[in-house]
Amino acid sequence: MKIRKVGVIGCGAMGAGIAQVVLQGGYEVIVRETEEALLNKGLGKVKGAFEKLVTKQAITRETAEAAVKRLGGTVSLEPLSDCDLIIEAIFENLQVKMDQFKALDKVCRKEAIFASNTSSLSITQMAAATSRKEQFIGMHFFQPAPVMPLVEVVRTISVGPELLKIAVDFVKSLGKVPVLAKDNAGFIVNLLFTPFMLDAMRAASNGVASVEDIDRGMKLGLNHPMGPLMLADYIGLDLIFNAGNVMFEEYRESRYAPPPVLRKMVMMGYLGAKTKRGFYDWSDPKNPKPMDLNA
Ligand code: CAA
Repeated sequence: MKIRKVGVIGCGAMGAGIAQVVLQGGYEVIVRETEEALLNKGLGKVKGAFEKLVTKQAITRETAEAAVKRLGGTVSLEPLSDCDLIIEAIFENLQVKMDQFKALDKVCRKEAIFASNTSSLSITQMAAATSRKEQFIGMHFFQPAPVMPLVEVVRTISVGPELLKIAVDFVKSLGKVPVLAKDNAGFIVNLLFTPFMLDAMRAASNGVASVEDIDRGMKLGLNHPMGPLMLADYIGLDLIFNAGNVMFEEYRESRYAPPPVLRKMVMMGYLGAKTKRGFYDWSDPKNPKPMDLNA
């Protein structure tokens, strides 16, 4: 099967990044949002990213224009009917994702492959909600998608070698590196990294060290690009809270349980960079200031 046209469902930070990467891979892309205003904002993000690449002289203007020409947008589902691959990147709510895939199942041609970019929800449950269990796979990109080289390719028990090869070849054609994981909560990266971020939160709230020093320690001691608390803010504390809960539900191990400090922050709407407050004050996004947790 040849992938030519890709539908990207959701054009927030993740969806826009994925759309950009897929366009750069030479494919035709149509993004779907629920409202015109969101669609225009999303398309603007993708076009703006290409403009930036031209300014940085990373690509030529001709290449950028050709990529943007292959980009379309829709608020309905019908224009997705001739897609060969659908990549869903809407917010992390299993029921909403299942409903979205059920609706897509009705309009997309029966050969089309469905992929979810979920970071921790069950691919099996989403696949089971459709009539194409053998053509349903996980494709988990990392933030920011245009920069991060990894994609986790997640297989359910219904995925055969043929679909796996198509997915792996597609990921490679984007210039990304695929790793294969079974459909277990957290796949590979979040399975191992979420407890690390939760431990950093526990350490901060237990007063082991300040937010700043925990991050400085892990950044400089392990040569990470940013400390775990800043990264948590960057990913979104609601996402980490949900992922921790999903993994705790599946494995019943306390290391996956979100600590009270995270629960309180999510309850208060302190979700990290996107709400300007988390473990850092992000009023100036270029210069986040560590918070005194008072928790
Ligand atoms: N979109 C596109 N490009 C971006 C970007 C974005 N949001 N943010 C940064 N970049 C690009 C910059 O343009 C720059 O490109 P050039 O080198 O070509 O100029 C490059 O990335 C480096 O950026 P900066 O110099 O501004 O800053 P930096 O060196 O600190 O890098 C970073 C930024 C790549 C985000 C880096 O801080 C980093 O690697 N952070 C960790 C990211 C990470 O761990 N992501 C995984 C999150 S977990 C996840 O996504 C999974 C999940 O399930 C939640």
